[in-house]
Amino acid sequence: MEKLRATSSLRRSLKSILNRQLSSVSEIRYLNGKRSCQPTFNLIRDHKNLGEANSIRYRCFSSVSTVVQRNPSFSTLNPDDISYFKQLLGEKSVIQDEDRLETVNTDWMHKYKGSSKLLLQPRTTEEVAQILKYCNSRRLAVVPQGGNTGLVGGSVPVFDEVIVNLGSMNNIISFDKVSGILVCEAGCILENLISFLDNQGFIMPLDLGAKGSCQIGGNVSTNAGGLRLVRYGSLHGNVLGLEAVLANGDVLDMLGTLRKDNTGYDLKHLFIGSEGSLGIVTKVSILTPPKLSSENIAFLACRDYSSCQKLLMEAKRKLGEVLSAFEFLDIQAMDLVLNHLDGVRNPLPATMHNFYVLIETTGSDESYDREKLEAFLLSSMEGGLISDGVIAQDINQASSFWRIREGVPEALMKAGAVYKYDLSLPVEKLYDLVNDMRTRLGDLARVIGYGHLGDGNLHLNVSAAQYDDKILEQIEPYVYEWTSKHRGSISAEHGLGLMKANKIYYSKSPETVKTMGSIKKLLDPNGILNPYKVLPHSLNS
Ligand code: FAD
Ligand code: MLT
Ligand code: ZN
Repeated sequence: MEKLRATSSLRRSLKSILNRQLSSVSEIRYLNGKRSCQPTFNLIRDHKNLGEANSIRYRCFSSVSTVVQRNPSFSTLNPDDISYFKQLLGEKSVIQDEDRLETVNTDWMHKYKGSSKLLLQPRTTEEVAQILKYCNSRRLAVVPQGGNTGLVGGSVPVFDEVIVNLGSMNNIISFDKVSGILVCEAGCILENLISFLDNQGFIMPLDLGAKGSCQIGGNVSTNAGGLRLVRYGSLHGNVLGLEAVLANGDVLDMLGTLRKDNTGYDLKHLFIGSEGSLGIVTKVSILTPPKLSSENIAFLACRDYSSCQKLLMEAKRKLGEVLSAFEFLDIQAMDLVLNHLDGVRNPLPATMHNFYVLIETTGSDESYDREKLEAFLLSSMEGGLISDGVIAQDINQASSFWRIREGVPEALMKAGAVYKYDLSLPVEKLYDLVNDMRTRLGDLARVIGYGHLGDGNLHLNVSAAQYDDKILEQIEPYVYEWTSKHRGSISAEHGLGLMKANKIYYSKSPETVKTMGSIKKLLDPNGILNPYKVLPHSLNS
């Protein structure tokens, strides 16, 4: 009887949760256009030339200061090189304009800045092959670039590397409605692929906040994770094939569209996540799931991290096959979003909560899926795991929930200086690091935790009014040592780029790194592809 009474009161409170009207108006999913990807803040990068020719001290605020030496074996551009590229690509695709170069030399966070004097925009694989063949023979270093939304300084030059941007290779080659296999060029913007597939009744197996600018070639090259990995897995599973151009101009045609193919080494995997250090990805074949008719999104509040963790376990057990996202943000992240992003409203305005969880379900039966979600929420409330929550009633509300979670990186940029870490950790330990970091930093800076909880991926960010070495000394190497001690990864999804090239040993054994170095040497003997990135500088020189 007691239990029944409790249940009916819970039902009432759940009903009120479900029926709550959001005060916020709908938002266009952010980063819908290229321009919106550039945050408005002052340039905060500071790379100082030490006076030594050809070396840069990166006091780049995101990693302990390192001196990077320009590889003396690389040539510098001369007028004959420019003439060659103009003849190959046509005048319009050979860019030397200072303003345009400024943009492509600078990363999304404005932390890293190169001094390239040349941007090339090939339109075909053959052009990419000719560019690399020429650069290799001339020992001209190259940075492959997609949408330039990378967060680890991988997509911009360190010195004067030639930038090869794939944006003009943006054709969809084929789509097979029976198998759901999409074949396209590497420069297709993720959001355009999402829209194309939507019209066909399919979805991309990956989705991320930078969708309006990032390119599928960049996604593949970083092995981007994002918001749907918990359901559809990583790109190592979804990319069925790709075409890549090696440093010497050889084209590797691995653009298969087969689910099963065990003929020897599956070399495509070398290019998934190697951040442009082994070749330029020019085409991709990707398995896309059908779009299912019912989608529900709940925005929930939890009292403590332990409740978030238990909620995840329950969601996996009770929502099972319909669970398609499980994201979290802490009160500090929520506070930043509410204070720095225009038009964002708190869906649970009565009080601020320590943690917020965004759960998405996607299935094929509207009433069954909704019932399933409601039953899960009811039992979670009964068990005290959720303190408040709301389910989106329409697509606009759904977008406004996503806007909060996807808006955290933008809000952080607007708040000032940000030290960004992207870690894989056992879920039960994940938030201990945030707490430890708060203790270490005290009043020096704000520590923010959010991320893809369903994948054990913490985005640990430290926010301050300005960059300060005192802050950095408290963060590094502590954050890497802590991660390594708990057998985590210092890069869950963003890659190593320049920021963490020298930190690779925290997550990989010396023998493994040595083997990576041998693979790099084999595929790019002159080291022209994305130098100074991914592998430790001792191996690169
Ligand atoms: P770029 O930034 O241009 O390049 C990234 C790396 O890939 C560089 O090393 C570059 O040399 C290489 N590269 C690019 N194109 C090619 C190519 N065709 N061939 C070979 N190498 C190439 N990442 C996640 O994993 N999950 C997220 O949820 C996520 N959310 C984000 C949200 C925001 C707001 C922002 C700004 C970034 C986010 N990122 C996220 C990081 C970034 O968007 C991803 O790493 C994305 O995959 C990069 O794609 P891009 O086209 O912008 O590549
Ligand atoms: C995210 O999940 O929002 C992205 O990976 C970007 C970030 O870590 O800030
Ligand atoms: Zn992320």
